[in-house]
Amino acid sequence: MQGSANLNIMMKAARTAARGLVKDFREVENLQVSSKGAGDFVSRADIAAERTIRDMLMGERPNYGWLGEESEPVEGKDPTRRWIVDPLDGTTNYLHGLPHWAVSIALEHKGEIVAGVIYDAAKDEMFVAEKGQGAFLNASRLRVSDRHRMIEAIFATGLPFGGRPELPAVLKDLGRLLPATAGVRRMGAAALDLAYVAAGRYEGYWERGIHAWDVAAGLLIVREAGGMVGPIGAAGSIFDSRTVIAANSAIFDDFAKTIRAT
Ligand code: IPD
Repeated sequence: MQGSANLNIMMKAARTAARGLVKDFREVENLQVSSKGAGDFVSRADIAAERTIRDMLMGERPNYGWLGEESEPVEGKDPTRRWIVDPLDGTTNYLHGLPHWAVSIALEHKGEIVAGVIYDAAKDEMFVAEKGQGAFLNASRLRVSDRHRMIEAIFATGLPFGGRPELPAVLKDLGRLLPATAGVRRMGAAALDLAYVAAGRYEGYWERGIHAWDVAAGLLIVREAGGMVGPIGAAGSIFDSRTVIAANSAIFDDFAKTIRAT
């Protein structure tokens, strides 16, 4: 695909940060972590990757704002544009030597995500989208699946860890979904869950208690692959409500009804 200058900068930053992450993967010294709360870790690798991405993106576009998982937000001179970055989505997988994690970079313009990049370095899978231009995996166009029967569908989610208050609602979601579908997966990287919905590998994804940096790029990629996204609750943007639901368009309504009944 012929991407914009911004998309090319984002892909380059994702690949550069991922090279460092791959180098450090399974290295003992990288297991030095600090905890932001029960089950919520930040490693040396997260911080180094965020610094790399931030230097590259802010170097190229010094006027844009910044929202990243591991550093203070920056209000840009151009208040209409900001980068939204998770330098290492799937930190817990990374720290356990599980090769399922990704770099996620989104560009927001006037409150809307206009470009998104998710790079899974372990599988060399680069998922990208720009608003109105479709979604791609490496050079191939992405389409959501067309499975519309709940009983044939699989869904991904993140389970609330460390005493998070969303647990009772998620257990209810699972109680409704498990008997009615082909199954639920919990792989541990929200950005990749969304990328996989866009690629038709899952029919849908939902999560309660998610952050903007985990899902900003993925939500655009799902939409550009022909899927639908929304908050779980009735009102507010996904970023305010911190709840998200995404699915192929054929199954979205049935899936959303099941989740919203909780
Ligand atoms: C986490 C992962 C996980 C999701 C959590 C996120 P992080 O992101 O995406 O799948 O269930 O809600 O916080 O902390 O590894 O960047």
